[in-house]
Amino acid sequence: MRLLVTGGAGFIGANFVHRTVADRPDVDVTVLDKLTYAGNRASLDPVAGKITFVHGDIADPELVDRLVANADLVVHFAAESHNDNSLADPTPFVHTNLVGTFTLLEAVRRYDVRYHHISTDEVYGDLALDDPAKFTEATPYNPSSPYSSTKAGSDLLVRAWVRSFGLRATISNCSNNYGPYQHVEKFIPRQITNVLTGVRPKLYGSGANVRDWIHVDDHNSAVWTVIDKGRIGETYLIGADGETDNRTVVETVLELCGMDPEAFDFVTDRPGHDLRYAIDATRLRTELGWEPQYRDFRSGLAATIEWYRSHETWWMPQKTATEAAYERSERILGG
Ligand SMILES: NC(=O)c1ccc[n+]([C@@H]2O[C@H](COP(=O)([O-])OP(=O)(O)OC[C@H]3O[C@@H](n4cnc5c(N)ncnc54)[C@H](O)[C@@H]3O)[C@@H](O)[C@H]2O)c1
Repeated sequence: MRLLVTGGAGFIGANFVHRTVADRPDVDVTVLDKLTYAGNRASLDPVAGKITFVHGDIADPELVDRLVANADLVVHFAAESHNDNSLADPTPFVHTNLVGTFTLLEAVRRYDVRYHHISTDEVYGDLALDDPAKFTEATPYNPSSPYSSTKAGSDLLVRAWVRSFGLRATISNCSNNYGPYQHVEKFIPRQITNVLTGVRPKLYGSGANVRDWIHVDDHNSAVWTVIDKGRIGETYLIGADGETDNRTVVETVLELCGMDPEAFDFVTDRPGHDLRYAIDATRLRTELGWEPQYRDFRSGLAATIEWYRSHETWWMPQKTATEAAYERSERILGG
């Protein structure tokens, strides 16, 4: 099988490529990635010589046409993925998440190629902290930020292309991922690398916001489950019952690093900061028989800390630029 993975030099895409090369020797993998600040060629070093890497933009119609013409399956991870950046400048979010997805869909439609679309639970907006409800596939879309609204728009394009043009597509919406190779701008790696470089971690608002954490390997095993067994045209929510508030995450990172769990600072909350996300993955579990492997967030976090500790050369070059970008956007947003 000839597989085209977009965004394969990013966090989840790189882990997906590693897993695919290891588990599926019959799959011939090509990665298309623009190598934005979030893409890192070094994340594909473990599979060097075993995949084809193409440096380019998913919104480039000629390039995409040529690559999709030679694929049996497209798995679309490429995105602008950071909420905070989308508040500072939504432009690349519209380009990549909307125009880029549209460009892929048109090519996939031309060649009738099977397509799997990677999305987020953030398209559903947020839940109240004291609400026992969880997101399901039937929850109405209610995105809060330019990031989540452009992801929601891309999901709707896929649904329309299925309905109008008979595209052979599936969609998955996953909760917050953690694990190796995640850019240091994201919440968990930022806290870990702050602690490892002797900087006090920062927490937005009161830290009561809840995220539903899932290990990246569990997300990717679910993606393969949907590709193998999912019904065409369906959406599957991916989550592993990992609800944890941000304050607990920071305290646990500090504790696992042998520090005082209270050694962090509170900073002004960001606008529109979603309160709580929680996924009900019943459809994926009951219809497709998927189960997560990482059931203990604390031990998954400990393994992730170990990875960052032993891969300083991977993340250190990004760290200074990331913290400078945070300072700039906090100034723009008046934080
Ligand atoms: N990180 C999470 O917790 C999470 C949760 C649910 C869903 N998702 C979704 O999973 C996907 C991957 O997220 P991630 O965290 O790995 O993101 P990431 O930011 O780590 O990686 C994105 C990758 O896409 C590439 N890219 C960006 N614009 C491109 C373009 N125009 N053309 C080609 N490549 C381009 C980047 O270079 C990078 O390698 C996204 O679609 C995201 O919405 C992420």
